[in-house]
Amino acid sequence: MGMNDFSKALLEWYGLHGRDLPWRHDPSPYHVLVSEFMLQQTRVETVIPYYERFLVRFPTLESLGRSEEDEVLRYWQGLGYYSRARNLRKTAQECLKTKQGCLPFDAEELSSLPGVGPYMREAIRAFAFDLPAVPIDGNLIRVYARLQAKAVSPNEPKAKKAAYDYFMERLDSPRDFGQALMDLGELVCLPNGAPKCDACPFGFCCKAHQKNHETAFPLKKAKKTSPAEKRSVLLLLDGQGNIAVRKRPAHGLLASMDEFPNVLGSQKELNLLAPGIEPRYLGKKTHVFSHVKWNMDVYTGTGVVPDYDYMPLSKLKEKAALPTAFAKLLTLLDADAR
Ligand code: ADE
Repeated sequence: MGMNDFSKALLEWYGLHGRDLPWRHDPSPYHVLVSEFMLQQTRVETVIPYYERFLVRFPTLESLGRSEEDEVLRYWQGLGYYSRARNLRKTAQECLKTKQGCLPFDAEELSSLPGVGPYMREAIRAFAFDLPAVPIDGNLIRVYARLQAKAVSPNEPKAKKAAYDYFMERLDSPRDFGQALMDLGELVCLPNGAPKCDACPFGFCCKAHQKNHETAFPLKKAKKTSPAEKRSVLLLLDGQGNIAVRKRPAHGLLASMDEFPNVLGSQKELNLLAPGIEPRYLGKKTHVFSHVKWNMDVYTGTGVVPDYDYMPLSKLKEKAALPTAFAKLLTLLDADAR
């Protein structure tokens, strides 16, 4: 029996319009692993330069498994969600230790690896090994909801399951199938009011399109607002071009990443952290994490506080795993120096 009409339409569209992305050139298990870890929660355009730099430094699973965590974090600097980098490295280590140096293809073995949840397991099985699997992300749930005119909410587990069953039933060429659906969701079956149904290969079977009701599906996500925290941050200099930084604790937000002296609260709380230092106000910055927003009042000052390292400002960016939340404050210091 030949390919089903659904796969045929999808894969033909993908051949003509699919994106040329670096991890698709040589989809070795290691390349798929790295790209999928980076792409979780992060847009393709952002990931591409990180992916390319990362592979120059860590070209193989073995080189990653033998690396130091700090160096991996440095290559991740700016991508966010740093636990992904830690888990990726641990997964490489685990493969060297217990999987003969290879990424496994077995679903259960994959699921036992750090950072490999259902999405990652399916992505690796499909994209690295061409095994029957479909990783379900938000794009695929939207495409499914429209194809079937199902009023599901994108964050419902049952929507994920229904989308999975629907696509698995129509699956052909797993390596291309899931990536084609991702591209369709990014390029054609756009969220909100803007699907490009004229360019869609599924006009013949899309129930939402047939009802002229594409934008009713899926249901809108309940908008979550993350709590805001007021923080005060001190860009503390020693008068010789060095700035105070230290490593954050190994658990929680920005675990093991570098930070400047900072406190929850205002200048009063900052003074308790850095007694004897007269902070001078530089300005405000905000940073949005997945579950919290920081509204930062940024100060500078001169002096020394215990428990911090002093690092040349010029070296800070290259030497440290400085998360964006803090790195972006340095522009205030640059502006102040001018
Ligand atoms: N997002 C996650 N994985 C992807 C892939 N392989 N191609 C495009 N976008 C993706």
